[in-house]
Formats: sequence, C-alpha cells, structure tokens
Amino acid sequence: MITKCLFPVAGYGTRFLPATKSMPKEMLPVVNKPLVQYGVEEALEAGMTTCALVTGRGKRAIADHFDISFELEHQISGTGKERYLDSIRNVLDKGVFTMVRQREMKGLGHAILTGESLIGHEPFGVVLSDDLCLNDGPGVLSQMAELYRQFRCSIVAIQEVPMEDVNKYGVIAGEALKDGVYRVDKMVEKPDPADAPSNLAIIGRYILTPDIFDILRETEPGANGEIQLTDALQTQAQRGCVMAYRFKGRRFDCGSVPGFVEATNYVYENIYSNQ
Ligand code: G1P
Repeated sequence: MITKCLFPVAGYGTRFLPATKSMPKEMLPVVNKPLVQYGVEEALEAGMTTCALVTGRGKRAIADHFDISFELEHQISGTGKERYLDSIRNVLDKGVFTMVRQREMKGLGHAILTGESLIGHEPFGVVLSDDLCLNDGPGVLSQMAELYRQFRCSIVAIQEVPMEDVNKYGVIAGEALKDGVYRVDKMVEKPDPADAPSNLAIIGRYILTPDIFDILRETEPGANGEIQLTDALQTQAQRGCVMAYRFKGRRFDCGSVPGFVEATNYVYENIYSNQ
C-alpha cells in the first residue's frame, strides 16, 4: 500500500505572470478550486493520505490552504454558506500535510530529492499539479497504484502527443507488455522531434521506488542545466525496471494558458454545472 504522495510546488509559474507574481501558480483556480487541490484529491482517492509538499519562498498560501482558516470557520459556521467549505474540509479530514522548502530551483529531480526527508524509505506517488488529470472512473494515481501492486517498480504515466510537441516532455521507448503498459528501455528529457525515440510523453504522475533518491544524488545536471528526474529514471530502468502506463482519462496542460482555459471550460461544463 502506497500512503505518501509528493507534490513539487516550488516552481515560479512564469507563463502566468502577472497573476503569479505574489500568488503561487498552484493556487490558480480551475473554476472554484485551486489546481493543487485537484491533485491532492486524486492522491487521497488513491489512498495516499500523507501529502508531502516541496514548497519554496512565496508559497505560504499553499500551506494556509491545507489548514483551518479559523476566522472563516467562525464567520460562516451555522450559515447557509458553510457548504462552500465542504470540499476543502473533506480534504483536511482525510489528509496529513507535511512540508519542506526547496531553497534553490535546480530542477524536478532536485525537488524530489528535497522531499526525501518527508518520504523516507518507501514507494511513493508524485503529482505535478500543472497536469490536471480527470477520469470518470478511478483517477490516474489509483490506476497506477493498482499497477504497482503487480510490478513493484517505478511507473511513469504516459500519453501520445503530436511529434512536434515531444520537446516539451520526457519521452520513453519500450516494449509493450500489454495494452497501454510498457517496460521502459529508453527515456529522454525534452528531445528534438528528430531524435525522439517515440511520441509517448511522460505526464506528471509517477510512482517511484525509494532507491530513486540515491540515484538522484549521483545524477548530473541534464537538459536546461537541471537535475532531471527523467535521467534518474533512465538509470533506474537500466539497473532494474521502470514501467510506463498509458492511463485512462483526460489530461489538461494547465502549465500553459490555452490548456488552463481548456480545463476551466471542461470543468465548468462537465463537473461544476452538474453539482
Ligand atoms: C516535467 C518533466 C517531464 C514531463 C513533464 C510533464 O517537465 O521533466 O519529463 O514530461 O513534467 O508535465 P516540465 O513540464 O516541468 O518542464
């Protein structure tokens, strides 16, 4: 049973400036709920009740979001407005939130390594909240936790993307074991389309085994001069096993303005309006 999930939430959100100048990008609302809460709800649904947040300077609003707001509770207690707090109260009842600050931005691999003290020596989930994943059935992390019980190794979520977009992603190649499940033998971070081993792109959901921390410690900076999780996973695949899983559900790239708008319209029409 995987009980912990790591959320790297220290990034700057440059593409959403000026909105993200003094507000964390993870707190941008898709309709009425901050992006990061969608990810936390997905983790809780998968049984990952300890949410380990790797935060940074200027991100205190995230810590406050996953805590009681005493004044607010006091003010609306017993009124008709109380129901607006239902979804966040539900999250606070189920989850435990732990935090560590990443002092320097040295890449996703560095963020994961910064979270080591919150995770310890056990397998764990990772959610990049920029990728909003929605499914009518079990969420993506639940699907991956199920697969973990079978394979007991690190798993990355993948999706086919247009070949001209592969340079925005980590890209995998591997042997298809069954429909949608691959044993990875190659991974490249942000390749040129001409050099990409496939168009199977890594989406921001992972299950990682804890040996990843030792590998990250010895991983040299890669693409963009950053310590890349993809490079550490490539080492893990060579030494043992990494699986890739083409998940069921929709994914919105909320790290880009068009993806964010698409997610907003989708959630408004399909979820919010039906509540
Ligand atoms: C990160 C990972 C990349 C992955 C992507 C998914 O990149 O490094 O491998 O494909 O998330 O969203 P970033 O989007 O942080 O540049």
